[in-house]
Amino acid sequence: MSTQDLQAIARALVAPGKGILAIDESLPTIKKRFEGIGLESTEETRRAYRELLITSPGSGEFISGMILFDETIRQVTTQGTPFPWVLSKQGIMPGIKVDQGAKPLAGHPGEKVTEGLDGLRERLIAYRQLGAQFAKWRAVITIGEAIPSRGCLEANAQPLARYAALCQEEGLVPIVEPEVLMDGDNTIDRCYEITEATLRSVFNALYVQRVVLEGLVLKTNMVIAGKQCLRQASVAEVAEQTTRCLRNAVPSAIAGIVFLSGGQSAELATAHLNAMNAMAVTHPWPLSFSYGRALQAPALKIWGGHHANVKKAQKALYHREKCNGLATLGRYTEALEKELAA
Ligand code: 13P
Repeated sequence: MSTQDLQAIARALVAPGKGILAIDESLPTIKKRFEGIGLESTEETRRAYRELLITSPGSGEFISGMILFDETIRQVTTQGTPFPWVLSKQGIMPGIKVDQGAKPLAGHPGEKVTEGLDGLRERLIAYRQLGAQFAKWRAVITIGEAIPSRGCLEANAQPLARYAALCQEEGLVPIVEPEVLMDGDNTIDRCYEITEATLRSVFNALYVQRVVLEGLVLKTNMVIAGKQCLRQASVAEVAEQTTRCLRNAVPSAIAGIVFLSGGQSAELATAHLNAMNAMAVTHPWPLSFSYGRALQAPALKIWGGHHANVKKAQKALYHREKCNGLATLGRYTEALEKELAA
């Protein structure tokens, strides 16, 4: 696949008014989400839930791509249609999470490194045959007492870059995701500092591994105070600090930037994205969303594992998709949130 083809897919992922729905929870993560609604995680409950998300009417208006998990990309609807086909028919690109999770980093207590490079080329070829057009790899950076270390940042940047290069070789657009977690008690300023250092080491590694910047999408955290921090920043402050950090550390050549929600409430994640896109300055890249929890949470709660609630849950998903679609254009308001929900 040519650079132009990769670029076309990458740009389509961040087209105006559209963003990504992440439904690629690993087995331990989906188990945790299902525990929240008192549901056992089995192959069938996972399939039923993903079918609800994938077949949700109207998603194609606001969703450019959905990120699937290895099990999900092979699953089919109740009628027997493969999930990737259902997405493609709605004009939604199927994507695939290809990392194999964050493991403890040797010699670095409290820090993690994401694994999954072994056999990746062959897996990418297989995923392409299953219909995937883009991929995702997530690295996790924890803020704490004297961490992250240089060793952790570099240990995570290198495989992210090698993954991205392999994706481009196999004709898949890499979503490069270094996530600085928001679970601690750190200030927004500390998050700024660590996010900037993380992004700089990632883009340095991408350069060394000869990754074509025009053919990738960055997925990153917002610059935000830790959940346990007593002083939470305002929406305007998060928008200001996040865009300033990105301007300083991210080349303007990349196709776009999408944010993860990371534990923010659904409405706050939308408000933050909207505030960035409503700023008077024009950003060098489209700023959009690739939310998991912030798009799914209301729908998951309404569904609760009961088939009778599927339609209602899909309405809630559509609502969040629409609100975030508007936020990519800077056209979301609290009043609209209530009006659309009514
Ligand atoms: P959250 O939006 O729930 O953080 O999930 C996004 C994601 O895909 C993290 O890798």
